[in-house]
Amino acid sequence: MDLEKLLADRLAPAFAAVAGGPVDPVVRRSQHADFQSDAALGLARRLGRPPRTIAAEVRDRAELADVCATVEVSGPGFLNLTVADRMLGDLVGALATDPRLGVPAVAGPETVVIDYSAPNVAKEMHVGHLRSTVIGDAAARTLAWLGHRVLRANHLGDWGTPFGMLIEHLVDLGEAEAAQELSMGDLDAFYTAARAKFDDDAAFRERSRLRVVALQGGDPVTVRLWRLLVAQSESYFLTVYDLLDVTLSAADFRGESSYHDQLAPTVEELDRLGLLRRSDGADCVFPPGSVGRDGEPLPLIVRKSDGGYGYPATDLAALRHRAGTLGATRLLYVVGLPQRRHFEMVFATAARAGWLAPPARAEHVGFGSILGSDGRMLCSRAGGAVKLVGLLTEAVERATALARERNPELGEAEAAEVGRAVGIGAIKYADLSGDRRKDYVLEWERMLALDGNTAPYLQYAYSRIRSIFRRAGVAARPGAGVALGEPSERALAFELVAFGAVVEEVAGSLEFHHLAAYLHRLAAAFSAFYERCPVLRAEGPVRESRLVLCEVTARVLRQGLYLLGIRTPDRM
Ligand code: ARG
Repeated sequence: MDLEKLLADRLAPAFAAVAGGPVDPVVRRSQHADFQSDAALGLARRLGRPPRTIAAEVRDRAELADVCATVEVSGPGFLNLTVADRMLGDLVGALATDPRLGVPAVAGPETVVIDYSAPNVAKEMHVGHLRSTVIGDAAARTLAWLGHRVLRANHLGDWGTPFGMLIEHLVDLGEAEAAQELSMGDLDAFYTAARAKFDDDAAFRERSRLRVVALQGGDPVTVRLWRLLVAQSESYFLTVYDLLDVTLSAADFRGESSYHDQLAPTVEELDRLGLLRRSDGADCVFPPGSVGRDGEPLPLIVRKSDGGYGYPATDLAALRHRAGTLGATRLLYVVGLPQRRHFEMVFATAARAGWLAPPARAEHVGFGSILGSDGRMLCSRAGGAVKLVGLLTEAVERATALARERNPELGEAEAAEVGRAVGIGAIKYADLSGDRRKDYVLEWERMLALDGNTAPYLQYAYSRIRSIFRRAGVAARPGAGVALGEPSERALAFELVAFGAVVEEVAGSLEFHHLAAYLHRLAAAFSAFYERCPVLRAEGPVRESRLVLCEVTARVLRQGLYLLGIRTPDRM
């Protein structure tokens, strides 16, 4: 149970009695006690009474005897609350026997569709797709753990006019050769070669155009070649997901092509609803509120002047399907901030069409860019986009080398496993520990450092606790009483009991840096505790109690990092 909430629940009836109506007790952490309530100050004017008198009356009425050691009126009229050691110890004791660590499954599970990763067929995944994959996966893990029904939608870019030239290039290369190139992950070379021919060769351009027509018309040979391209790319993306250790699987591909049949009905419905307007030969929706820099309304183009449907129409059809057919009430789109306007217009249009009506809602979970150490967009030496696999491989190599150096006792296999967990963990944590809306700089040394707000720091804290138990050959007894005497024990306990509230907040805001910051605070509180309080050298109930503190800390670290998609090796 969240302590702030527990205290607020106990104070609320007392405040209500004094004020003659409901009052929010406004409980928060305090510098002078454990918590404080500031509500008396706000009431003073309304009641025409001095705040200290109000606070004193609330103190006398509130049933806090079992929760607080002391309740004091202080300053102009604050209530300072000091939690009883007994109460705090019992709360930690309850976590020790709770498989969910104080985070109950939600009472009303929702169907949540998470649109994430979404790379494009026959094109290399870039760092933007990395961010989407990492953030989306943390969202999927967190919401699923809370008991929601999570549907992962990998909105693969597998449709559209570029497929004419891609298929023609495949025909030129020969199927076997093309498959070979694509399965090796040489997606950019394939795409660039196709593009070059398209730009320079008029005959190729014409063939490509006819291919698009054939593809849209369902010509069996063309569709087979298209499937080949998609399948090769999918299997390559799956190797990246495997390396990245995310929960996305082959079953989660929901390419743009899968909405193909729904494009015409979707646009027809918009037309029936009177939402379409013709502009420069194209059919457009003008969502209210979307205006350009010049103040002119901005169009969402749902049918281009050549009659084709594009990216916006596909997103509308997908949204209609997710809310209408799948029954999702929460629709998440983990896509970079440059697409913010696009999603605003799609959501506004869907709302006007009645496809997105409360309780269903859509959220653009936007994020910034990854920058190189020069502070500019991350580029390869040749100036192109950085290849994602290259980045991940480098992270694992660096972390494996560090693991060998830091702990020569690790065997080869274990060093490789630790290197993977730490390298990939470092990449994910660097992404998730900052405000996602901001750009961030990729700095290897900082990301892989054992101190600071990094994955290795947290993983190390976890492995250190495991080694305490391993060395001594002991285990914590979950039912053992938790007795808190030292200030550093209390500080650690306060962090532990706050886990549930943090996870709940993050499930709403999808601001994973709050969870990261919490885990970092927890690990720091553990360090301070471990420095000041002997565990194995303590005796009797104190030793038992401290072992429980260690055990619960390890479990919260492990679960919190799991939600971020980060592994916790037992030894580092
Ligand atoms: N494939 C797109 C890209 O690479 C991202 C798709 C995002 N999802 C969506 N429903 N539009 O930019």
